Amino acid sequence: MNRTHTCNALTSENIGERVILSGWVNSRRDLGGLIFIDLRDREGITQLVINPENASDVADICRPIREEWVLTVCGIVGARPDDMVNKKIGTGKIEVNLEKIAIENKSQPMPYHFNDAQASEDLRLKYRYIEMRKTKLGSYLRLRHDITKHIRDYFDENGFIEVETPILSKSTPEGARDYLVPSRVFPGQFFALPQAPQQYKQILMVGGLERYFQMAHCFRDEDLRADRQPEFTQIDVEMSFITEEDIYELVEGLMTSIFREIKQIDIDTPFPRLSYEEAMFQYGSDKPDTRFKMRLVDLSSVVTHSGFQVFKNAIGDGGKVMAINAKGLNSIASRKTIDEWNDIAKLMKAKGLTYLKIEDDGTIKSPIAKFLTEEEINDITNLTDATSGDIVLIVADAFLTAAQALGRLRTEIAEAHGMIPDNTYNFLWVNKFPLLELDEEAASFIPIHHPFTSPVKADIPLLETNPGGVKAQAYDVVLNGVELGGGSIRIHDAELQQRMFEILNISDTEINSKFGHLLDALGFGAPPHGGLAIGFDRLVMLLTGAPSIRDVIAFPKTTKSSCLLMDSPSQVDGQQLNELALTIQQK
Ligand code: AMO
Ligand code: AMP
Repeated sequence: MNRTHTCNALTSENIGERVILSGWVNSRRDLGGLIFIDLRDREGITQLVINPENASDVADICRPIREEWVLTVCGIVGARPDDMVNKKIGTGKIEVNLEKIAIENKSQPMPYHFNDAQASEDLRLKYRYIEMRKTKLGSYLRLRHDITKHIRDYFDENGFIEVETPILSKSTPEGARDYLVPSRVFPGQFFALPQAPQQYKQILMVGGLERYFQMAHCFRDEDLRADRQPEFTQIDVEMSFITEEDIYELVEGLMTSIFREIKQIDIDTPFPRLSYEEAMFQYGSDKPDTRFKMRLVDLSSVVTHSGFQVFKNAIGDGGKVMAINAKGLNSIASRKTIDEWNDIAKLMKAKGLTYLKIEDDGTIKSPIAKFLTEEEINDITNLTDATSGDIVLIVADAFLTAAQALGRLRTEIAEAHGMIPDNTYNFLWVNKFPLLELDEEAASFIPIHHPFTSPVKADIPLLETNPGGVKAQAYDVVLNGVELGGGSIRIHDAELQQRMFEILNISDTEINSKFGHLLDALGFGAPPHGGLAIGFDRLVMLLTGAPSIRDVIAFPKTTKSSCLLMDSPSQVDGQQLNELALTIQQK
């Protein structure tokens, strides 16, 4: 029996036809007389009916059938009685009266209830194949395919060439630890899995390809979160003879066409732009969620001479007093809630958090009211636009610490109190990042993006004198508070690249061994170039509304970077280790 239709194909128009369907038993109800089976395949569900009076042999075969057994069935399409019509599914008006049935395979009882939100993530990862059949995962993977196809078409239409770059590669610094692969032929030497194809794509530009893209697999050994996996996919792009504006236009074009095609939503372009500094000042984050306001306010100017020592000291030490107005939340701001907010601020390294409540009758309640003058209180409420029912949260600290603490509170409060509108997609460019940041531990500068990022031309003379003040030609694209992608215009001059490595305190020997190939390539007529990479899993996560990128990856790893399905990583036998000249140290 070869199937004639999928389980989502039959409608009233097929009534009377003899059809063959294949699929899995979604559910089975034995009503004593009639037996009903919902048969499911990739496309949908069709109801099967077995009437023992007409087909007692089929009914006998059906009785032991359980969830997820695999069947091929033959029967006649009939209309469901009016009161049995299911408007929720495409096949809801019909059912198939079975004449023949073949059991293709049985299934073990289900290891857990798939619709149970409480079922442990570990079980879901171990039984990934059942999740694919029975939950949204299957449809997410199909959508992921559709988006991939759309992306490839977009780049093809725009003159890009997809090039596969090596997986057995050499360490490229993207800020994480490398996954290493030992070489058998060169004992004691290692390949690194690419954290990104950064150096390859730049070398492709030196190779004259001009427009490269790749659905690139990347590997990073780093601490995982909901939007991070140890292996993930980037939409990786590099272009020659361009400016930042070309990248903005390309990405805006890609995003509008994906959203139109996949979600039938028109995204506004150009995307708004914020400099890194503006983003930190207004939102306390370099990836601000702009779907809701609650912007940060700088209170420093009105509390410089405050009687509250904490404010005065913070400003005296070069810091700032920053605030957000949690509009309308005074009534829920119990002692416990405020303590929780305090903990969040402390988690973000702030020394403390204080507040000003504006009660319904307009009076002010605050642990620091006694230290503030009436004028200061008025200034604070004016600047934060606070009125009855609001609570103003205030942190005094070094600017970045205060801003980031309030930035984190801003998103946590908005999420907890339903302030984020559904079905809104707010894109944003964040640019004008600093080029370098001080690594306090190493007491040297490290690149904020990567060491191949070009400084803003006018700032090049400051590289040695004021490295921290140099701006980068770097940009991130942000969607709903998630860093979707980032990139930069690159250094294409070998001398400047060499200078950059020196500023980063990389020794000559290390420059040679790690980046000699790149410096060589830049020396042979490298064109000006730049690019970016978009986190593809994050994009699919946001398009599907899935809470984690694990939900849109077929075989994701756990937060400890292990695979529960294959049970990897795993030990290898002594023979393999010998071939690689490796011995295992007991830790
Ligand atoms: P970057 O390191 O910013 O840039 O990475 C680009 C984008 O990749 C995604 N991403 C991740 N997604 C899932 N899991 C991870 N562990 C993970 N790490 C990063 C993010 C991020 O914005 N070579 C440069 C790009 C360039 O300069 O062209 C790079 O890789 O969405
Ligand atoms: P303390 O003097 O530590 O008891 O703090 C008095 C009040 O100031 C408490 O409400 C603290 O939470 C708050 N506070 C302490 N440090 C800071 C800070 N850096 N910024 C804002 N409020 C603070």
